[in-house]
Amino acid sequence: MTAHLSSAESSNVESLLKETRIFSPATDLAASLGGAYCASMDEYRARHTRSIADPEGFWGEVAQGFEWFTPWTRVLEWNCPDAKWFVGATTNICHNALDRHVLDGHGHEVAIIWEGEPKLPGDNGPQPEVKHLCYGELLDEVCRTANALKSLGVKKGEVVTLYMGMVPELAIALLACARIGAVHSVIFGGFPAPAIADRMLDANSRVIMTCDGAWRRGAVVPLKKSVDEAIHLLCAQNHTVDHCVVVHRIKHEMEGAVDWTAGRDHAWHELIDAQSAECACEPMDSEDPLFLLYTSGSTGKPKGILHTVGGYMVYTAYTAQQTFNLRPGAGHVYWCTADIGWITGHSYVIYGIMPNRVPTIMYEGAPNFPGDDRFWEIVARHRVTHFYTAPTAIRSFMKWGDQHPGKHDLSTLKVLGTVGEPINPEAWMWYRQHIGADACPIVDTFWQTETGGHVITPLACVTPTVPGSCTLPFFGIDAAVVDEQGNELPPNVGGLLVIRKPWPSMLRGVHRDRARFIDTYWSRIKGMYLAGDGARRCEKGYFWIMGRIDDILNVSGHRLGTMEVESALVSHPAVVEAAVVGMPHEIKGMGIAAFVSLAPGSTPSEALKTALRSHVSSVLGPIAKPDMIRFTQTLPKTRSGKIMRRLLRDIAAGRDGNQDTTTLEDFTTLATLRANEE
Ligand code: PRX
Repeated sequence: MTAHLSSAESSNVESLLKETRIFSPATDLAASLGGAYCASMDEYRARHTRSIADPEGFWGEVAQGFEWFTPWTRVLEWNCPDAKWFVGATTNICHNALDRHVLDGHGHEVAIIWEGEPKLPGDNGPQPEVKHLCYGELLDEVCRTANALKSLGVKKGEVVTLYMGMVPELAIALLACARIGAVHSVIFGGFPAPAIADRMLDANSRVIMTCDGAWRRGAVVPLKKSVDEAIHLLCAQNHTVDHCVVVHRIKHEMEGAVDWTAGRDHAWHELIDAQSAECACEPMDSEDPLFLLYTSGSTGKPKGILHTVGGYMVYTAYTAQQTFNLRPGAGHVYWCTADIGWITGHSYVIYGIMPNRVPTIMYEGAPNFPGDDRFWEIVARHRVTHFYTAPTAIRSFMKWGDQHPGKHDLSTLKVLGTVGEPINPEAWMWYRQHIGADACPIVDTFWQTETGGHVITPLACVTPTVPGSCTLPFFGIDAAVVDEQGNELPPNVGGLLVIRKPWPSMLRGVHRDRARFIDTYWSRIKGMYLAGDGARRCEKGYFWIMGRIDDILNVSGHRLGTMEVESALVSHPAVVEAAVVGMPHEIKGMGIAAFVSLAPGSTPSEALKTALRSHVSSVLGPIAKPDMIRFTQTLPKTRSGKIMRRLLRDIAAGRDGNQDTTTLEDFTTLATLRANEE
């Protein structure tokens, strides 16, 4: 394979996956799901061709399946890189997720199945807390919460930060914001105080909703404490947080442990239970902001990716329906294991699923608590038909052993999905055999925070799959692999993954940073969206994602900028310079290797490594903890002063993290030898 990537980029690319067997969907699958939306690959091709040739006609028809308060005057207005979809139309995503089903007489049907992590003693042994929330009662709760936000003075367009565990109140908060036109910014509960403060400051957010704590693997994550610390950090920057609404999830364990600031802090249930359950949906312009979600970029601080109401609503619900073959009233129970703190949770736990009127599961805790079979127990308990998770989780399941899924009845499963990172064939095959009984199709969905929904993916009842390939573009997606000039490359030549036409849920911008929006996605290849991944297409036209071409790491399916980790390291007094690269990791897919040079007076030691790891964790969260730290006198650099990341990547990949040494290393000779390669 030749690569049309620079040497630095191609060395960052994952090794190609070798499995070539083709798996076609079982012939009776569609019937067992109540039908198929697409009858054959020929139909897929015809519809895809039409969606590219006539996007306005195609998406105009799809959008008819949603309720709008006023119609659009044009389906698309495209002025690269600015897209407007369903121009002039008004709607509300909360109306399409909830009110619509209630008005149609489905208010008693289950919208959300929630399962808490802890198990409580019961007659048949310890049982988890389970709640079934129907569309009707959820609508009442959302209206109360929306009224509560209004009572705090929250206005349309204002950013409300949500920093919560996976409790039903998080789904309610999301929908309540959408209902009144407040823009939510969800921060994953694993992030520490500085990350909350940075995001609130960037978004100019003055209202936050949180929990006293969250359950994780039997322990309490003290969320409110982190919020208090963040508010303290913000105070120092003259940014006031006016209101903090707190769900008491961990009550007894947290008794006395949660600080309370009268006037600013409000107990969720005291505030919300007192509100009326009537609250009309705010008519939202299709292009009004729906949410910001911060994600790592290759430079500087995380960027606030902006999604808007109409296009995001249509695209996420339509992809969910077509990719997973979801159907209301067909007994489907859908479970995406992602946390709502990430885009997968936004699009495929809540927004894309609820308009399809299929129950969505929210599970609060860890996959291995109290036992390594917790996920399979949940699948069996709730008779899950559609299961969507990340390759990193699958690799953990493999490690924990086949006996765990083997203990449970998984026969209700029909469709399996993965997302977040390339899946290795071994994990794909294990998933198929041990979870899918060698029968369920696996949809390997490629997409990004920026794309809002699936962009390259198999369709469950239609597309033949090959382990490791995310197969073919979704309707409306004009994806291609191109060279630096934007020319499409022949089969099996690696290049840049781009999307050449706008699609409804594409990001509309980077919050308060137009230049970064243009530079990151639209500058390198004129007129095309640059995904930031390397890819190739094989003879069949299937896409094979080869990994990021920039300095973004993908650790357990989560994005991290190398610069973020480097900045966190140099903010420790013992460190003068740091370089961070990815390294292969059996479970996480990619681990973090940090090369660190120390300040005068600091000496390498195991204790210092531990201190640096916990320092990084306190700035960026546990996800960012380096798996390997190497101390070095100087970092290897090119003559122009660029750190030789490729050399560092080779070194990191070549040695086992457990054998890493605490002695100072001198890369000078190696660097000189390799200088010409960079
Ligand atoms: O590198 C790709 C990888 O995850 C990146 C996007 O990360 P994020 O915005 O956090 O969204 C993750 C969940 C949608 C991509 O640029 N990625 C995501 N899905 C896949 C993937 N790589 C290979 N195969 C996938 N299915």
